[in-house]
Amino acid sequence: MEHRADPPHQADAEPWERLTSAAADVMRRAYAPYSRYPVGAAALVDDGRVVTGCNVENAAYGVALCAECGLVSQLVAGGGGRLTHFVCVNADDEVIMPCGRCRQLLFEHGGPDLLLLTVSGVRPMSEVLPDAFGRVDLARVDSAATTATATTEPGTATEGAR
Ligand code: THU
Repeated sequence: MEHRADPPHQADAEPWERLTSAAADVMRRAYAPYSRYPVGAAALVDDGRVVTGCNVENAAYGVALCAECGLVSQLVAGGGGRLTHFVCVNADDEVIMPCGRCRQLLFEHGGPDLLLLTVSGVRPMSEVLPDAFGRVDLARVDSAATTATATTEPGTATEGAR
């Protein structure tokens, strides 16, 4: 009888439980003394890693870092890669929507196909941030295209690596 190994990442075919649990864990480490609204975020990377982040507020309220900022920093500092699945939760472990600014942050590293667990189910980023502005828009303008190609490619660890 033919014996077939499990397909790679089969355990991650439906990663939402794992990601929601990771988001809830990191939410408990949030630094949110001003809003008292801790947030935890978790995402799956295309190489199988899970990256997380929590919000970090500041006495200068406007410089607060959303949970997604920490997540994206961990992604890039850990070698880069593409985000494939994302979720964020509040202090009641309820799924919340990423704020508008963070949708843009996530789009840079996951593109239109990034799947988000949202308050209205699993949805692609193309629905959560329709007609998103991105690198292709920079490349459409000659002067900006030069700058865009001179910097690190999206989702890469090292310049020119991919
Ligand atoms: N917050 C996040 O961390 N991510 C979001 O997508 C929504 C808002 C944080 C920012 C602030 O520390 C607190 O939630 C209240 O707005």
